[in-house]
Amino acid sequence: MAHFEKAKSLNEWLDQRLAINTLNRVLAKEYWIPKDINFLWAMGMVLAITFGILLVSGIFLLMYYQPNVDLAFDSVNFTIMQEVGYGWLWRHVHAVAASVVFLIIYIHMFTGIYYGSYKKGRELIWISGMLLFVAFSAEAFSGYMLPWGQMSYWAGMVITNLFSMGSLELNGIVEWIRGDYVPAQAFLDRFFMLHVLLIPVAILALIGVHFGALRLPHVNNQNGEEIDFAVEAEKYKAGNKAASKVIAFANDFMSKDLFVVAVFLVFFFYLVFWNYGFAMDPVNFDPADGLVTPAHIYPEWYFLWSYEILRPFSKDIGLVAFAFAQVIFFLLPFLDRSPNAVPANRRGLFSIWFWAMLVDLIVLTAMGKLPPEGIYSTIGLVAALVFIALWIILPIITKLEKKL
Ligand code: HEM
Repeated sequence: MAHFEKAKSLNEWLDQRLAINTLNRVLAKEYWIPKDINFLWAMGMVLAITFGILLVSGIFLLMYYQPNVDLAFDSVNFTIMQEVGYGWLWRHVHAVAASVVFLIIYIHMFTGIYYGSYKKGRELIWISGMLLFVAFSAEAFSGYMLPWGQMSYWAGMVITNLFSMGSLELNGIVEWIRGDYVPAQAFLDRFFMLHVLLIPVAILALIGVHFGALRLPHVNNQNGEEIDFAVEAEKYKAGNKAASKVIAFANDFMSKDLFVVAVFLVFFFYLVFWNYGFAMDPVNFDPADGLVTPAHIYPEWYFLWSYEILRPFSKDIGLVAFAFAQVIFFLLPFLDRSPNAVPANRRGLFSIWFWAMLVDLIVLTAMGKLPPEGIYSTIGLVAALVFIALWIILPIITKLEKKL
């Protein structure tokens, strides 16, 4: 047993047992943030807060939701929306947060791509970020099943069908995933478990890994300057704060982060109270019916770009293209062969690549929502081919890039 002095305060008592002061120093007081960053660097904090909102609102919804194919639809649309006091508010908060979180994730990802924040020791930040993206996608999909409306049912049918692997017709796998021949009680039970337990726990663990991966390389900055954090931190600690290129996370930088979070929350609650409709598909206000297929089955807006990469091709090629779209972003740190971790606008061809990729993803998203007919399907096909071509040329153009 170690020797313990009598503590003079609660802080000291806790510090002796949990090293809270060391933790506070390493994670906050002496966690150095470059001064040369803009509001886009607050998106990580906005994401963390939005995830918190999803957890809290989800817990309230869970008190009345019934994971049963005969009761689920009414438990959401009648009990929660009409009978429970402020049930509608928790549902709108949850649905709007689930949609907006993807907007912020995409902004956060493209900030990282623009500033080359996945390079030189930051690869694991990027990879853990991509794992978070996949985990959030699985969380959103499983949550979409729970109201057991028409879109829940048919999106569940379409996505699980993908696991038959096209012409390989591995139907046994599809039934194994569903626990039945069609989406039914076993399907709802397991997606309920994934949504409320396994995936949220995985997300929490991944956020821990993501933050851990950030601690040593520190965040990047607007000009890709290689900062000697030890030297700059000494200046800051010696009181020479103006000359130092860094500030402490707590409380200096955190106050700026919280300002951006506050602006975000104004926008968020505006959506919750006045514009929540965009986060709910009208077709999902009809109860699930395995005998009536909706005219158009399409996913939520954040999955449309990858859906549109699947759709314009024949069955098997579409599946391969879809699988390609799911994994290729993971490989970005290795496909970008240039050592320059600077903003895209200083990187010549890469700058064109960046904007072409962004516009292409927006075109794919727009086409994914429209019926695959006439000119729309041609535009969709071209955009899908451009997406694949952009990834193929990335290693070549970045290899040619001059070292800055
Ligand atoms: C809910 C999920 C996520 C949370 C809570 C989160 C949180 C954070 C936070 C707090 C930071 C530091 C400050 C900042 O740059 O914003 C950060 C940085 C970063 N994140 Fe995420 N992130 C998430 C998802 C992602 C995703 C999906 C990606 C992309 C694959 C990603 C890639 C990065 C990168 C590259 C950085 C480093 C930025 C830099 O060094 O300048 N993150 N993240």
